[in-house]
Amino acid sequence: MNHLIAPSILAADFANLQRDLELINSSDADWVHVDIMDGMFVPNISFGFPVVSATKKHATKPLDVHLMIVDPDRYLKAFKDAGADGMTVHYEACPHLHRTIQAIKELGCRAGVALNPHTPVTLLQDIIADLDLVLIMSVNPGFGGQKFIDNTYKKLHDLKELSCDKNPNLFIEVDGGVDQHNIQKLVDAGANVLVAGSSVFSSASPSAAISHLKYPEKLLQL
Ligand code: DX5
Ligand code: ZN
Repeated sequence: MNHLIAPSILAADFANLQRDLELINSSDADWVHVDIMDGMFVPNISFGFPVVSATKKHATKPLDVHLMIVDPDRYLKAFKDAGADGMTVHYEACPHLHRTIQAIKELGCRAGVALNPHTPVTLLQDIIADLDLVLIMSVNPGFGGQKFIDNTYKKLHDLKELSCDKNPNLFIEVDGGVDQHNIQKLVDAGANVLVAGSSVFSSASPSAAISHLKYPEKLLQL
């Protein structure tokens, strides 16, 4: 499978969100990554349901909603109604993870679990067969534009091994500090969904930046 690119609208211009979504619509991107932060699970607050609904109105690609919130069960239906196609909850925020995953699936959404940088992949052993996606955080969640953590490669290898054994169709997503310099190495390590915020939206040409992430081999040939 060719890897997927999910630009994160956290780095978009919120005063021109429609424009930035149209840019994503006409680019090589596959999903739109939507970061929800509650100021509790993470130190930052991003945006809520009205922005997700507005995003859904203009996006032609699936919304990949990353819930960096405590007790996400309270809001799963509301995010589904706002337009989520997939929802990813944090392992560290879900004491009853199996129940939460079933609830996401019952809503008809792709179900994912995110791991903070300190959380080992082995903790997913008994849930991985139930998951559609695992998101490896390659920065501490809460902010865009942070430095990529190198231990991510080792975690991707661990996850790839676990997924080959127990869930070969798993989406393996990486989020944080992804750019045109590390994308190929991340794909080689097993990632098949790459989130990118600042490397896309701080580029002079976001749509070219997305193409470079989607087809890194072409860039190497230049
Ligand atoms: C961080 C978010 C990321 C963020 C990535 O907590 O989960 O999705 O938007 O931003 P960059 O690509 O700038 O590291
Ligand atoms: Zn994210």
